[in-house]
Amino acid sequence: MKRTAKGHKKNRKTRASSIRKKLIEAAKKAQKNSYSPYSRYPVGAAVLAESGRIYTGCNVENASFGLACCAERVAIFNAVSHGEKKLRAVCVAAKSAKPCGACRQVIIEFALKDAEAIFVDWQPLEKREKVTHIKVSRLLPLPFDPSEAGL
Ligand code: THU
Repeated sequence: MKRTAKGHKKNRKTRASSIRKKLIEAAKKAQKNSYSPYSRYPVGAAVLAESGRIYTGCNVENASFGLACCAERVAIFNAVSHGEKKLRAVCVAAKSAKPCGACRQVIIEFALKDAEAIFVDWQPLEKREKVTHIKVSRLLPLPFDPSEAGL
């Protein structure tokens, strides 16, 4: 098979979309484990580490409401606690899924330069879903930058 520049690009695109599909399925699966009896807003997240491994998390709430932890942070802390500190992609599944401001700051702490954020807008009992993907660098303009702060 002749490997044209175009063909090569297509292969890369196909690979990216199959990785995206895996992440979406992993985030939806994690969403099923959400502990959210107070908000009734289940969220699932999946992150793709530099190693190629996928780590997941769901939101975990508490009777003391302020102690809730978002799915994105649970997934990222799961990755970090397995020794993975560089992330290629972060995927969130929920109704109108988008990471909160606190999670955006945590995401940029570990995201690689060209990392991707994937939002899967859906509800477990619905067939329809809307997938959006953007560069993580667009998530948080003017973030708190540890190097500027001398940390
Ligand atoms: N939540 C997440 O898990 N991720 C987000 O991006 C936004 C909010 C959770 C926190 C809480 O358990 C519930 O959703 C309602 O805010």
